[in-house]
Formats: sequence, C-alpha cells, structure tokens
Amino acid sequence: MQRIAVLGATGAVGQEFVVSLNKHPWFELTQVASSARSAGKKYIYALRYPASGILKWHKPEPIPEYMQDMVISKIEDIDPEKFDLIFTALNSDDAQTIEPDFARSVPVISTAAAFRYENDVPILIPGINDEHIEILDIQKKNRNWNGFIAPLPNCTTTGLAITLKPIMDKYGVESVFMTSLQALSGAGRSPGVIALDIMDNVIPYIPKEEEKVQIETKKILGELNQTSIVPNNIKVSCTCMRVPVSDGHTESVFVETKESVDPHMIKKEMLKFSKNVSIKELPTAPKDYIIVHDDPTRPQPRIDREINDGMTTVVGRIRKDTVFENGIKYVLLSHNEKMGSAKGAVLLAELLKRKDII
Ligand SMILES: NC(=O)c1ccc[n+]([C@@H]2O[C@H](COP(=O)([O-])OP(=O)(O)OC[C@H]3O[C@@H](n4cnc5c(N)ncnc54)[C@H](OP(=O)(O)O)[C@@H]3O)[C@@H](O)[C@H]2O)c1
Repeated sequence: MQRIAVLGATGAVGQEFVVSLNKHPWFELTQVASSARSAGKKYIYALRYPASGILKWHKPEPIPEYMQDMVISKIEDIDPEKFDLIFTALNSDDAQTIEPDFARSVPVISTAAAFRYENDVPILIPGINDEHIEILDIQKKNRNWNGFIAPLPNCTTTGLAITLKPIMDKYGVESVFMTSLQALSGAGRSPGVIALDIMDNVIPYIPKEEEKVQIETKKILGELNQTSIVPNNIKVSCTCMRVPVSDGHTESVFVETKESVDPHMIKKEMLKFSKNVSIKELPTAPKDYIIVHDDPTRPQPRIDREINDGMTTVVGRIRKDTVFENGIKYVLLSHNEKMGSAKGAVLLAELLKRKDII
C-alpha cells in the first residue's frame, strides 16, 4: 500500500478525497491536514460550523468510518518523508507556498490552479493527455526536486477537454464557444456561495473561471515538444455561470470543426474514444468514459451526475449548428468533485503508479 496524506481534507474537494480513498486497493490515507481552524480536532468535529454545530457534508455517502476519529494535523506537522504521495485540495494562494515545500521531497497531485500555467507543469486529465506526463521529469530536473507538482485542470475544463479530444483528433477544431451552468460545490466551502444569493437565481459571473477554461483547454489539447507543451491554437470562448445545483457542471458547447461532420459521426467518435481510452482497468476508472444520450432531455445533473460514481462525462443534444458551415452543438455534464477534482486526482495517481512514476 502507498502511504497518502491529503492537505485541505475538510473542504469540498478534500471531503471527496476522503470518500474516494476509502478502502482503496493501492492507497492508504494515513494523515490529513487543514487550516489552523481545524488542526487538533477529530475530522468529524472539524466538519461542524462552530456557531450552529451544523455538519458541512453534502455528499450522498456518509463520512467514512475510518476518518471520523482521525485528528487533523497542521500542515507544518506533515513530514513528507513519511508519504509516497500527497494530494492537495487547497485554495490557490495557499497552494502556491505549500505545494513546493512538499514537492521537493515527494510527488504532489493538486486540484489547485497555482502551478497550472508554468512551462514545466502539465495539466493532466487521465486518458486525454497522458503523453504530457513526460514533462514531470523535466520539472524535477529544472527545480532539483525529488517529487513534482501534477495539477488537474479547473473542474469546468475537464468535461470540455474530454469531449473535444475525440472531435479534434478526427475532424479538427477551429473554435469553441462554451456556456456553463456550474454547481454550488464548485465554489468550495470557504466561504462558498451564500444560500440567499443563489436560491431562485443564476449568477452570471464566476471570477477568473472563463480565463482558466480558455487557457487550460488549449494547453491540455496541446502538443508535447522536447521541453514543454505547445498550446493548441483552437479559439476558445466561454461564459461561466453559477446555478442552484449542488454537484455537477452542465455545459452548452458549440464547436466549429475543420471538416464538415454529421452529428451522428460525433456520437460515434465519442463512443469509440470512450471504448478505447487508456485508463481502462485502473481501480477508479469508470466503465464508460463518455456516455452519449439520444433523449433530448438528457443530461441532467440530478439524474446523470452519479453515473459510474461521477466519473463519466455525459453528453446529449448533439446537433448541427445552422449559423456556421461546419458547426455542431451539444450539452455535457461532468461531476466537478469526482472526475473534475478529487476522484479524478485519484485516477491520475493510479495512472502514475501504473507507469512506475510514483
Ligand atoms: N470545489 C470543486 O468542485 C473544485 C473542483 C476542482 C478544483 N477545485 C480547486 O480545489 C481547491 C480546493 O477547493 P475546495 O472547493 O475544496 O475549497 P474549500 O471547500 O474552500 O476547502 C479549502 C480547504 O483548504 C483548507 N485551508 C484553508 N486555508 C488553509 C491554510 N492556510 N493552510 C492549510 N489548509 C487551509 C481548508 O481548511 P479549513 O476547513 O480548516 O478551513 C479546507 O480544507 C481549490 O484550489 C479549488 O479551486 C475545486
């Protein structure tokens, strides 16, 4: 068993790490850390709001038993030498200073944005850009580290990049317009979105989100050269909105392809890609990487987000666009805390272990 620590274990993503690592066949979560607010408390008590005592836990699964009494450490009390791998679920400002301290000694898989845009850092989605993993070696050499920082993308980028990849490989992509309807849990818990602001409402702006999705999509779909990743030159434009849904980001996507293509061929390519995806057989890999619905009322977050335990990107409404000559449109749903962050990070760790990198 590989020894694992999670930093930021009390947050929205950290909680999902705790669930995803429960009874994992390869990884054992032996220590967790969070802010000074939580350090020294048993996990189950640290998850309660101090004033009301209300539990901060919105998952379909209960808090796993193995975690309830685990005492939360301070970050500085985590000895990296005791671990084979560290998962981080920290806000980006904290990750900026904390992650390098650990990566000097041990691999770090991160859900934060802090290092995503550096030249020697890949943004990894298992099954989409596995060849970019090679950059981790360059990062180690550049920085004289024993470990590395391997970030996942922003959770809104994940489903978009997953669905664009088969289209791009077969038909080429010129431009993409995407409008997202993003879940509340995507905003995290400190402080998160206040109920009074979001009930009966849609908030048409998420700070920094559109820029992140635009840059990350091009990097993930970019090409590896000797020392870095050359971003793909597809044009990406987004509008990101917050909606009153607990989990699961819905995205309305328009794609201008280089070649003319019928919608049914897009479905065929997505399903072919799903069938042959590289990460099959890993413990956390879903049975279906992508599902495509013909029913025009799907995907819906409440019905589709837990398919294959939140690891499947669910697509529907694939149709021809009438404005652009080579345009197609579709709707996708991706679970922001599962494939889009913690559970996707566990899948990445499994891929790195299978490649003997951790
Ligand atoms: N939420 C999502 O769906 C999602 C998806 C993809 C990526 N991400 C990214 O993942 C990261 C975590 O997001 P989140 O939504 O889980 O945020 P969150 O709910 O706000 O959780 C933040 C975590 O960091 C801890 N923390 C805060 N300040 C700290 C400090 N100074 N030292 C150590 N720990 C500290 C918090 O501990 P306390 O509980 O003790 O305050 C908590 O465990 C962010 O970078 C976010 O952008 C989030």
